[in-house]
Amino acid sequence: MKKSTVFDATLLQLPIVHNENGNITAVNQLSEVPFDINRVYYLYDVPGGTSRGGHGHIDLQQLIVAASGSFDITLFDGKVRRTFHLNRPYMGLYMPSGLWRDIDNFSSGAICLVLASHIYDEKDYLRDLNTFIDWKKKYDTPNG
Ligand code: TYD
Repeated sequence: MKKSTVFDATLLQLPIVHNENGNITAVNQLSEVPFDINRVYYLYDVPGGTSRGGHGHIDLQQLIVAASGSFDITLFDGKVRRTFHLNRPYMGLYMPSGLWRDIDNFSSGAICLVLASHIYDEKDYLRDLNTFIDWKKKYDTPNG
């Protein structure tokens, strides 16, 4: 969604199977995520003070979960920035394609779990902020 704005991103409450011996959260394609999951990856052992991300995606959709610990995700659509604090393993941030994102403020031991709509493809990345802003401008409508 090349016209996407940060307001198309949504925080989803994922289902919890409660158990006194430990809970389970399952992410099912279609019921919990609105895209086919083709890749799962996770960031871990992130040193304190590190910032990850710093790029946009052209087609990739993602659901991001703090499987452990916490971090902040700041989304940018070329005009507006919106920051989400993820700190629960049953909350997922759905990110449509066409957004820039920065991830920082990682707690010690944080695990950033990402369910993605496509396998890794460097051609899907926009790694320069000004290139991203120019690319978004092409999809601006007269009203907005
Ligand atoms: P990148 O997505 O830029 O990391 P982040 O946004 O977390 O800072 O990826 C960093 C490098 O890792 C990239 O150059 C290639 C490699 N990589 C893969 O090989 N497969 C993957 O699925 C991902 C996400 C990254």
